[in-house]
Amino acid sequence: MSKDKAGKFQLTHIRTYQVLKIEDRFDEEIKFFMPPAQGRGPILSIEAIILIKLMRIVDADYVFEFGTFLGLTTRLLLENLPDKKIEGERIFTLDLPSIEGIEFQGSDAETAKDAIGSERKYMKSKKKNLVNQILQDCLTFDEQQYKGKFQLIFIDGNHAISYVRSDTEKSFTMMAKSPSCIVWHDYGNPDFPELTAYIENLATTKKIYHVENTMLAFYLTGKDVEPRNKV
Ligand SMILES: C[S@@+](CC[C@H](N)C(=O)[O-])C[C@H]1O[C@@H](n2cnc3c(N)ncnc32)[C@H](O)[C@@H]1O
Repeated sequence: MSKDKAGKFQLTHIRTYQVLKIEDRFDEEIKFFMPPAQGRGPILSIEAIILIKLMRIVDADYVFEFGTFLGLTTRLLLENLPDKKIEGERIFTLDLPSIEGIEFQGSDAETAKDAIGSERKYMKSKKKNLVNQILQDCLTFDEQQYKGKFQLIFIDGNHAISYVRSDTEKSFTMMAKSPSCIVWHDYGNPDFPELTAYIENLATTKKIYHVENTMLAFYLTGKDVEPRNKV
C-alpha cells in the first residue's frame, strides 16, 4: 500500500490499463448496452467495462448489487455473467420498496422515486430468472444469510454516509473467499464528499484502489494489480 507524508496508508490511484492487464479466463467479447439519453443514475461506459472486467477477474459465481435503480447495471452484469453450471439465482440486487423514513443526499430522493415501481431493464433478458430482486431498506437487510457468498459486490445505493458505512460493513461479511471484490461507485463525486472521505479512511487499513477518470474504487482479494508504468 502506498503511504502519505505522515506514513499513513492511503488509497492507490490507478489507471484503467492496470485493471485491464489482470489475467482472466475470458476472451475479449463483452455485451454492452447504449446508455440511456437521460443521464441521472447509471454508471459511465468506462465504469461499465471496468465492472465487467472485475467480475471476470474474480470469475464470479454470485454477484450482489446495492441499488438496482432501473436495472441497467444489473442487466449489464447479467449478460456478462460467467457461464457456469450453477442452479438458481446468481445476481442479487437490492432497492427500496418505498422512500418512507429514508434519509437522502443530493438528488438521491428523486432517483429513488424513479426507481420505485419501474420495469427494470434486466426483465428484458432471457436470463432474468438468474436475478433475485430484493425490495428492502438496506439498513434492515440481514447480511448474515449470505455470509461469504458473493465474489463481486457493487455498492451503489444510498449515498448518505450511514448507509454507505452499513452497506460496506455488510459487504465485508458477504464477500466470498479469494478471489473476490467489493466495488464502490461515486468515489470523488463532489455531491457526496462524505462518501469519498469514508473510502479514503477505509484505505488506511485496507488496500483500496481508485480507477482514475472514473468514480469507481475497489477492494480486491486474491489478485494483484501491477504497478503503474513509470512513463
Ligand atoms: C444510483 S442508483 C443505483 C444505480 C444502479 N446501480 C445502476 O448502475 O444503474 C441508487 C439506488 O439506490 C436506491 N436506494 C436508496 N436508498 C436505499 C436504501 N436505503 N436501501 C436500498 N436501496 C436504496 C435508490 O432507490 C436508487 O435506485
